[in-house]
Amino acid sequence: MSTLRPDRPDTAGRVHFHDLHPTPADMRAEVLAGLALPQKRLSPKYFYDDAGSRLFDAICELPEYYPTRTEIGILRRHGAAMAARLGRDVLLIELGSGSSLKIRTLLAALEPAIYMPVDISREHLLRSVHDLAAAFPELVIHAVCADYSSALVLPLDDPVSRPLDHWGHQRAAFFPGSSIGNFEPPDAARFLQRVGQVLGAGGRLLIGVDLVKDTRRLEAAYNDAEGVTAAFNLNLLARINRELDADFDLDAFRHDAFFNVEQGRIEMHLVSIRPQQVQVAGRSCDLIEGETIHTESSYKYRVDGFHALAAAAGFSAEQVWTDPDELFSLHCLVRD
Ligand code: AVI
Repeated sequence: MSTLRPDRPDTAGRVHFHDLHPTPADMRAEVLAGLALPQKRLSPKYFYDDAGSRLFDAICELPEYYPTRTEIGILRRHGAAMAARLGRDVLLIELGSGSSLKIRTLLAALEPAIYMPVDISREHLLRSVHDLAAAFPELVIHAVCADYSSALVLPLDDPVSRPLDHWGHQRAAFFPGSSIGNFEPPDAARFLQRVGQVLGAGGRLLIGVDLVKDTRRLEAAYNDAEGVTAAFNLNLLARINRELDADFDLDAFRHDAFFNVEQGRIEMHLVSIRPQQVQVAGRSCDLIEGETIHTESSYKYRVDGFHALAAAAGFSAEQVWTDPDELFSLHCLVRD
């Protein structure tokens, strides 16, 4: 653990940084395996290089992309009730905290003993925590750089940060943005189970979940008029070109996103607009005209369906909040 010595004396001593050095996944092996499948696939986790993270921030501002705006509206309207559910003086863990914007709507009412943002991006964390500490003068922050999606290891039981062990605060977690929808449902259940293990019995999780709705509205959110989502999708190929010595021609692919009603998910694909051969990390990959690479699934849930998933992972639903149009939902779950 390091206690950061910021250039701002107002946050000195309250901001601590735990770098768990998330090992870069074996991107080469994963990409090659995905491109060798009958339905070619690339993992959405590779969207988020620097350019991809910036494009994602731009997506969140788009008029068509309702989830971010709607979730923030629900948080603003019901933040006090949510904070009351989570309880004061908790150790509050935020998974995938990014720039820690949404948590601001809860912090004043919540007054956590410790706020623990967890993110894989060191830069994002370092940038956001001091601003947050300056805005909330009582807040103690233990920022953790870790990949929460593979194994949820936090510095709570780490001998180096032993004091955290002994504070004995009830733990609570915040997982906004409907990022749970980017897991395949069985993986989502396994992930929630791991969160439950960290929280312990009686621990609460406040989680954002996008809801099933009118197909046209869903598809518009992933096919914006400005083409930002298309650029976000295609950026994946640019990243693979750069990092895996590949030669994808970005002009030879187009973005496609549609709602798969049977599976209850938005699917994003990159469609090959002509027959082509691509070199990736020393291997050849052939695509016929119209063939697609599936780059992301974004599952949409009904409230009951999500509660069944949560129950399978050992959580009971305590309360759900939605917006008046029932586009998006936030759930307070309690670990059994
Ligand atoms: C991060 N995640 C919840 C977004 C979603 O809606 O599934 C990622 C995204 N993909 C395209 N637009 C936004």
